[in-house]
Amino acid sequence: MEIKKITCIGAGYVGGPTMSVIAQKNPHIQVTVVDLNAQRIADWNQEDLSLLPVYEPGLDAVVAEARGRNLFFSTEVEKAIHEADMIFISVNTPTKTYGKGKGQAADLKFIELCARQIADVSDSAKIIVEKSTIPVRTAATIKDILDHTGKGIQFQVLSNPEFLAEGTAIADLHNPDRILIGGEDAEAIQALKKIYEAWVPSERVISTNLWSSELSKLVANAFLAQRVSSINSISELCEATGANVDEVAHAIGQDSRIGSKFLKASVGFGGSCFQKDLLNLVYIARSYNLHAVADYWEQVIKINDHQKSRFAEKIIQTMYNTVNGKKIAFLGWAFKKNTNDTRESAAIYVADHLLEEQANIAVYDPKVREEQIYKDLDYLATRSDNENKALLEVLDDAYAAADGAHGLAILTEWDEFKELDWAKIKTVMKKPAFIFDGRKLLDGKKLQELGFVYYAIGE
Ligand code: NAI
Repeated sequence: MEIKKITCIGAGYVGGPTMSVIAQKNPHIQVTVVDLNAQRIADWNQEDLSLLPVYEPGLDAVVAEARGRNLFFSTEVEKAIHEADMIFISVNTPTKTYGKGKGQAADLKFIELCARQIADVSDSAKIIVEKSTIPVRTAATIKDILDHTGKGIQFQVLSNPEFLAEGTAIADLHNPDRILIGGEDAEAIQALKKIYEAWVPSERVISTNLWSSELSKLVANAFLAQRVSSINSISELCEATGANVDEVAHAIGQDSRIGSKFLKASVGFGGSCFQKDLLNLVYIARSYNLHAVADYWEQVIKINDHQKSRFAEKIIQTMYNTVNGKKIAFLGWAFKKNTNDTRESAAIYVADHLLEEQANIAVYDPKVREEQIYKDLDYLATRSDNENKALLEVLDDAYAAADGAHGLAILTEWDEFKELDWAKIKTVMKKPAFIFDGRKLLDGKKLQELGFVYYAIGE
C-alpha cells in the first residue's frame, strides 16, 4: 500500500516533533498535524520559530525545512482524516481524574473520540496507528469502533509507541534505538516500516504482536522510572552513612550488566509519562488480580513522592526548621532541562510543600512561562490562585530571583545555571546563604569555598 497522505491527530509534545521528522525524511508524503486546540495550531504556524508551542533543541530547523512543503498544521480535523491513507493518533492519555480507576487508570476518552471521528468521516481504507501510550488491548477497542461503521471500509490498526525523550526529542527521532511496530496485518506493517526506513536502518525496526507492542511502552517507562527510584532510594542511605551517591552510581554503572545511564540521583522524576504510565501498569496488574505485581511497581512511585517531600523537608530543617516569610529562589521549573514542559515536575510539589510552610518563592526558568507556573500550582488546588500569587513570584533572571533570598534551590538541571556568577549571587543573598542542589548540578566544593552552605542529594 502506497502512503501518500498522513494525518496525525494531536499536535503536542509527541505529535509535533514526530510528524516534523517524518515529513522531513519523507518529502514525497504530505503530513498534516491536526488539533482541536486552535491556539496550539496557530503557534505551530508561527513565522517566528522561537514561538513554537514545544521547545526542543533542533526542532525549529526541522520545522523550517518541512513546513509549507509537505508538513502542515491545521484545525480542520475532519478534512485531514478524510484525505489520509494513514492516521496517527497522538492525543493525550492522562490519568483518570474521576470514576472507576480514578488516580490510576488511563483516561481513554480522547482516544475513543478519535476512533469515532475516524469512523464517522472515513469513506476509504485507512491504516490507524496508535502513537499515544495506551493500556494493553486498546487496539481491540479502536478496531471494534471502526468495524461498526456499517460502510464496509477496511481499517488496519497498528501500535507504534513513541520512545523519544523530551529535551532530546529530535536527536532521538533522528537516531532511535529502535522503532516498535505491533500489528496483525503484514501489508500495513510494511507500509509503516517503509516510512521509518527512509532514515532508520531496517534492523532497528522491530515488529511484534499488537499486545506486546502496547505493553512494551508501559514496561519501558516502568523500567526507566524504576532505575531513578532505585538510585534515589540509595541517595537517602548515602546521606545517612557517609557514602556518596554519585560515587556509588559510577561504581555500579561500570558493571555492563547494570549500565551507566539513568543512574543520576535527583529530587525525583517528573514529566507527563513516568508516573502516568506506572500508575496505569499498576492498575492493569490489579485488574487482572496480580496484586504482588501491582505492589512491586507501585513502590517506584512511592519512592519518587518520598524523594520530593524529603527534599522540601531538608530545606526546612536546614533553614532552622522554619521558612515562614523567608525567600527561597527556585532555579528551574521544567521537569528536566531543554524542555518547556512542566507536567508532574518535581518543582511543583517542592514549591507546594514550602508554600504550605508560608515560604516566599521566587522562580526563574529559562523556558517556562509565568502563567504556566501559576497554572501548575493552581491545579493542585492546595490554596487559592490569589494566595499562590501572593507567595510566589516569577522572574526572568536568576540574579533577581536570588536577590535577598535566604536559600536557593536547583530544581532543573539547565546548563546555564552552571555558568552563573556564584560569587555575585553570594553577595545578594542573605547569610548564611543556603544552596539546595536537587539535581547535583553545581560544583559543591567551589560553592563551599565561596561561603555557601551547600547541600546536594545523596552526599
Ligand atoms: P499533549 O497533551 O502535549 O498533546 C496532545 C494533543 O492532542 C493536545 O494538543 C490536544 O489538544 C490534542 N487532542 C486531544 N484530543 C483530540 C482530538 N479528539 N482531536 C484533535 N486533537 C486532540 O500530549 P503528548 O505529550 O504529546 O502525549 C501524547 C501521547 O504520547 C500520550 O499518550 C503520551 O503518553 C505519549 N507519549 C508522550 C511522550 C512525551 O515525552 N511527552 C513520549 C512518548 C509517548
